[in-house]
Amino acid sequence: MTSDPIDPAVTARLRTELARLVGARHVLTETDMVAGYVTDWTGTWTGWTPAVVRPGSVAEVQQVVALCAEVGVPIVSQGGNTGLVGGSVPHQGEVLLSLRRLSRLDPVDPLSGQVTAGAGVTIGALQNHARSAGFEYGVDLASRESATVGGTIATNAGGTAVIAHGDTRRQVLGLEVVLADGSLVSRLSGIQKDGAGFDLSQYFIGSEGTLGVITAARLRLIPLTGGERHVVLAGVDRPSQGLNLRGSQVTALEFLSHRCLTAVSDHLGRRRPIPTEHPYYVLTEANRLPEVDAPAVVGPGLWAFREAITEALSRRGRPHKFDVAVPLEHLDEFVGQVERLDGEVFVFGHLGEGNCHVNILGSSDYATVAEEVMGLVVGHGGTVAGEHGIGVAKRRWLHLSASPAELTMMRRIKEAFDPHRTLNPAVLLAPEE
Ligand code: FAD
Ligand code: MLT
Ligand code: ZN
Repeated sequence: MTSDPIDPAVTARLRTELARLVGARHVLTETDMVAGYVTDWTGTWTGWTPAVVRPGSVAEVQQVVALCAEVGVPIVSQGGNTGLVGGSVPHQGEVLLSLRRLSRLDPVDPLSGQVTAGAGVTIGALQNHARSAGFEYGVDLASRESATVGGTIATNAGGTAVIAHGDTRRQVLGLEVVLADGSLVSRLSGIQKDGAGFDLSQYFIGSEGTLGVITAARLRLIPLTGGERHVVLAGVDRPSQGLNLRGSQVTALEFLSHRCLTAVSDHLGRRRPIPTEHPYYVLTEANRLPEVDAPAVVGPGLWAFREAITEALSRRGRPHKFDVAVPLEHLDEFVGQVERLDGEVFVFGHLGEGNCHVNILGSSDYATVAEEVMGLVVGHGGTVAGEHGIGVAKRRWLHLSASPAELTMMRRIKEAFDPHRTLNPAVLLAPEE
């Protein structure tokens, strides 16, 4: 959206009031100042906002949300803006609520192995903080230096450690959340058993900013085991060959196609680490050096060949991106089929969960390609959204993975939490769908 859809008088009042609440320097309105907030990481989604507002405390978030509700201007919450489905930027002239200044990071409680972190803390900062106390956080992903606690909870992010520790939902013991009317709900005690009614925190995990604004989280940590972690990259004929490597010592199990390895090697300016050519490669990290019955190389530097794929592809163009997951017994066939679609197809992902990132360059429009990819996903009994969420990009295909009864319940939950559709109105469940 490029033009101002809001009454100019309302915009002026909103900006004045926001500046009063959070301080003028934390309300951005100039085009060059808001540019980095209104366009997503991929460059695919760009919107317009009357203001980027950067509250510095939970009380300020409450006041901003209450003001927007009163004025009738919707809000998009944003953390690190690394989301890949267009959910973190404005689409209909929403106020852009940046949570990055909520950087509270309490000391680790060694007794419970827990920590409370503000929504704006990056996963990288959280990992460093946990490690300095002898723990680690169970979620890790290549966007760790920008992706935030709030954003990863809102998307229920996966990443490379799911095989060992589960997704973000498994790490969250409770949340502090500002509701659509500005009121606050808080469960940060970390108490491990709590049967007092509905566990409201669960609703916000994976809700993509549509039900409330997450301001802080109580998170489970994992004691560091110490000792070396061994990283192995092996060449295989089929991704599923790597599934033999699963076991209690494994901390990551990833796969990439030969085309991905070539693209990322070119991008890094490094030689392909395995001299022989294979259709696919499996990267595994484990506490014990795994026995691999395939051509393989070992070393921590191999992670770059997996983690830099997204950046390598974005330098080549703007790929159509599909984050999907299929049952493990369908993985090889699904991957083979998507690789035969039109265009330059790059497939990689999180092998342990059958989570495939299908990136396609040089093909027809997004909707046409999406129909083909989603058709294959559904045919194999998979899901249209593995770990990035639905956002705006996949709204049209949500019905393929959620039954009419489930969609009705989702709409009722949205209505209960956000009756006036103030929070991320363009994301996940659009009113007309
Ligand atoms: P944003 O992009 O700012 O927002 C994402 C969504 O959450 C939006 O809908 C937004 O409105 C909402 N939101 C943000 N903060 C809040 C809040 N405080 N309260 C309520 N709603 C909020 N994802 C994975 O799951 N696994 C990966 O391995 C992975 N690797 C990536 C690698 C790269 C190089 C990149 C660029 C992205 C990758 N991602 C991955 C995607 C992205 O990093 C995740 O989706 C991440 O969880 C987004 O966090 P963020 O803080 O950037 O959120
Ligand atoms: C990854 O696992 O690297 C990502 O989720 C990023 C992507 O899908 O491009
Ligand atoms: Zn991923």
